[in-house]
Amino acid sequence: MTTNLDGAVVAVVGASGGLGAPIARLLAERGARLVLAGRRTDRLAALAIDGASTVALDVRNVDAGDSLVAAAHDAFGRLDGVVNAAGVVAFGPLTDTDDVVLEELFLTNVLGPLWLIKRVVPALAVTRGFFLNISAVVAEAPMPGMVAYSASKAALTGADRALVRELRRRHVRVCDARPPHTETGLAERPLAGVSPSLPVGMSPERVAARILAAIEAEETEVAADQF
Ligand SMILES: NC(=O)c1ccc[n+]([C@@H]2O[C@H](COP(=O)([O-])OP(=O)(O)OC[C@H]3O[C@@H](n4cnc5c(N)ncnc54)[C@H](OP(=O)(O)O)[C@@H]3O)[C@@H](O)[C@H]2O)c1
Repeated sequence: MTTNLDGAVVAVVGASGGLGAPIARLLAERGARLVLAGRRTDRLAALAIDGASTVALDVRNVDAGDSLVAAAHDAFGRLDGVVNAAGVVAFGPLTDTDDVVLEELFLTNVLGPLWLIKRVVPALAVTRGFFLNISAVVAEAPMPGMVAYSASKAALTGADRALVRELRRRHVRVCDARPPHTETGLAERPLAGVSPSLPVGMSPERVAARILAAIEAEETEVAADQF
């Protein structure tokens, strides 16, 4: 089975990000009609993607998914897919990490996506659509100095794997993508701590292209070594 993105209505959450932006551009190149979401609409507007609709939302709010569905239905009358490219990172030993940082990581990287999926599934079930979460390599290979980030991504990947099967009977496809380190600048803007020195990461364009291929081929996961 393959998915044809021409004319599909796809929402990208975190569309202004280092991965969200190239994913949004590739979706637009394929003819998808886009709903661009994130906290700062000025950054979404700066993408200047023709015909795209924008919506301000914060995945830390339980009702962000309702706003996303409403925006897609208002602009285009349907929702065929969601790419969740929103996420945050933090570095440092667990014992040195503030409690609020731990809470923030799990709110944005785990609870937010679960609240989001819960609320968009009814709309995606109507269109037999898809939901793709960007997890990370650390879900497979948790790292010291990134305990909470690794745990948040492992939790997200665990949820995605179960959702692949749980949502199959509702004809909603789920994909868990686990990119390796990528040069988006994310590591330079952590919630806390300082990034360890990392080898040069992948290009965001390469990671975005692999994610597009996964959507089109209806893959249920893209492991780190498949990028
Ligand atoms: N870069 C890497 O090395 C790498 C590797 C593997 C996996 N990943 C994962 O890939 C995803 C994207 O990372 P990235 O490198 O593209 O990071 P990024 O450049 O910092 O982009 C993050 C995006 O998420 C949005 N965002 C952050 N918090 C949000 C919230 N609470 N509600 C709504 N939107 C929010 C940001 O926009 P606003 O600030 O305007 O809301 C931004 O558009 C993350 O989940 C990350 O963990 C990244």
